[in-house]
Amino acid sequence: MNTKFTTFYRHIIDEERRFPEATGQLSNLLSDIALSCKVISQEVNRAGLIDILGFTGEINIQGEEVKKLDVYANDILTYTLQTGGNVCALSSEEEDTFIPVEGKYSDKFSENKYVVHCDPLDGSSNIDANISIGTIFSIFKRETEKGPGTMKDCLQVGVNQIAAGYVVYGSSTVLVYTAGDGAHCFTLDPTVGEFLLSNENIKIPKESKIYSANEGNYSKWSKGLQNYIRYLKEVDNETRRPYSSRYVGSLVADFHRNLLYGGIFMYPADSKNKNGKLRLMYEANPLSFIAEQAGGKSSNGKIRILEVEPTELHQRTPLFIGNTEDVLMAEKFLKED
Ligand code: AHG
Ligand code: MN
Ligand code: MN
Repeated sequence: MNTKFTTFYRHIIDEERRFPEATGQLSNLLSDIALSCKVISQEVNRAGLIDILGFTGEINIQGEEVKKLDVYANDILTYTLQTGGNVCALSSEEEDTFIPVEGKYSDKFSENKYVVHCDPLDGSSNIDANISIGTIFSIFKRETEKGPGTMKDCLQVGVNQIAAGYVVYGSSTVLVYTAGDGAHCFTLDPTVGEFLLSNENIKIPKESKIYSANEGNYSKWSKGLQNYIRYLKEVDNETRRPYSSRYVGSLVADFHRNLLYGGIFMYPADSKNKNGKLRLMYEANPLSFIAEQAGGKSSNGKIRILEVEPTELHQRTPLFIGNTEDVLMAEKFLKED
């Protein structure tokens, strides 16, 4: 192991020192999330060996069949968040509505200050095929003064996020987060059980030649979008076309690859799903915060994702995220609609 390592905890404590008024709740909250993801990672890596693959037989509020690992990840995260004393409300893809949380320490100095939205297990359809999956989280400061959090605390616009991140359970387990001062990547060293800093201040490579989209939906896309996809396939060396198509089907894995290699990920609206498939509060918002911190851009095809005013907890949004120049080009084609 290299002797100059920085753990995730050390990194967030150094970040905390930038705020003299910090109570330490954000550091404790991020630590709790990292701990939960270490536990989930263990289970993901054993999933094939214990009876945790396959379906539970339930259908969640999204209308999707629930996998055992979805439930397991959701149980771990919601338990840790509710008992940690830092959160007044939380929402999860696997919970019908938000969960209000009583203050753990009743004195006003340590009122539970934060709200967390999470996708406990992203890419569920890939679990049984041993393809990378992940966890996504988004953190806001509460808007109400005290007591259990309310829907007002939960439905905040993305620019209000205090921190956001994701974990990819892949060939290794990596955690990427931002607290507004750059996007940073940590790799789990299972021998010591710590996330060690592996890539500080990630910047999306300036030029990309990767696009990620489920082209099976092509016939349901708008004319403008179909023209954009055709444009990406034309031959033109000047603009690095044709682009390469890469699509795993796990948002976190597709996004993480594009963050490091450059590229645009799209989950557009289509004639069947007017708002696309991905959820604003716990998929689009957190990844958009990271993309912008890494010098990229993220929009719903018209406006900045982080400026989309939420009206419902599980609301969906079209998503175009990655290199700024690619997202701008996609928006240009969409204007033709
Ligand atoms: P989840 O497993 O949390 O429901 O998310 C699945 C999402 C996202 O991970 C991925 O990008 C997208 O579904 C893939 O959708 P398609 O299979 O329709 O392409
Ligand atoms: Mn998801
Ligand atoms: Mn999920």
